[in-house]
Amino acid sequence: MADYQYHIFSPYRVCPLGAHVDHQHGLVTGFAIDKGVDLWFNVREDSRVNLRSLSFEGEVHFDLAARSEVKEKHWGDYARGAKYALKKRFELTRGIDGVLQGSLPVGGLSSSAAVLIAYVMAFAKANGITLQPFEIVQIASEAEREYIGLNNGLLDQACIALGKKDGLLFLDCDSNEWRIINRNPKMPEFEIGIFFSGLTRSLVNSDYNLRVFECKTAAWNMLAYQNQPLRTFDKTFLRDIPKETFDNTRDMMPLRFAKRAEHFYSEYRRVRQGVTAWETGNLQLFGKLSFDSCESSIHNYECGSPELISIYNIMRPLQGVYGGRFSGAGFKGAVIALVDPKHKEAIERELTEKYLAEYPEYQETFKVYWVKPDDGARFV
Ligand code: GLA
Repeated sequence: MADYQYHIFSPYRVCPLGAHVDHQHGLVTGFAIDKGVDLWFNVREDSRVNLRSLSFEGEVHFDLAARSEVKEKHWGDYARGAKYALKKRFELTRGIDGVLQGSLPVGGLSSSAAVLIAYVMAFAKANGITLQPFEIVQIASEAEREYIGLNNGLLDQACIALGKKDGLLFLDCDSNEWRIINRNPKMPEFEIGIFFSGLTRSLVNSDYNLRVFECKTAAWNMLAYQNQPLRTFDKTFLRDIPKETFDNTRDMMPLRFAKRAEHFYSEYRRVRQGVTAWETGNLQLFGKLSFDSCESSIHNYECGSPELISIYNIMRPLQGVYGGRFSGAGFKGAVIALVDPKHKEAIERELTEKYLAEYPEYQETFKVYWVKPDDGARFV
């Protein structure tokens, strides 16, 4: 792409621990990885945006200076979403001509947040706007929540914008305080396996938003039982309700809501333990907590397709798998694992054989990739 002036690499993310809690202001961890989205672009004299993708059909054309348009249910919506969120804060007068390419098939690695962050950075660059890393996180998140319509939290954007090669991102989604916890020199080597089930779905059409409302309903139940004032759903988060309140009210509420809350409070505890495990170089314990997080996603949060659950069950006992869980929400395609590199080939062989024996229909689409943590989105 030599004829382009700028090149942004925006990585995908994986979350070993702290899943489905960001939208309730919980604690999360994650990595940016060495696969992601590349955006090459030139800055234009006028405010037009012209994009094409090497991964998706069609072209996208719009004007950054014009009012925000309605969504078209097309990959171009992410670029329009970036425009929408930036325009709430800045005047945009210069557009770009760009080409976009993703490096892995879509499904659970948050390619949507990766492209959004690439567009936010590109439009900001074209317009001489300097953004702090956490501002990029917030702008991209607003684009996804308010424009695309997914009621998610900050996990994806934070991993993608703030991730570091040699560390684990830890973010408190209540205070927005974050830090990178460097690898303890005692920690054994690991690589990240990404196991694509072959199944792809969009989160906007999944039960993702429904689960978010179930968490808020659990919070409302607890507040109501305690005769405390309720607030509107947009201001209701499980994080604001002490664990003791849950202990005192869990048997009174419908099981469905109690389970969602159980996931939240237990994941909070696991992330705290996981951070200590990571700090002390205890990858075994960190991995086990990631497995437990997946168990809670299956039984308490009740997400995960039969395909993902099958991959998880097959990989859990394999030698050299420290831990792992559904990637992202678990409504889409992938499971991730932290793995001892010595056992990579054997793990891949056994997993592929057993999974395809159960799901031969994914012969063509089941894929295994090996990746490593990497730095967050950047100009190359
Ligand atoms: C998706 C959402 C995130 C987060 C995860 C689950 O990736 O976009 O905000 O909720 O699911 O942890």
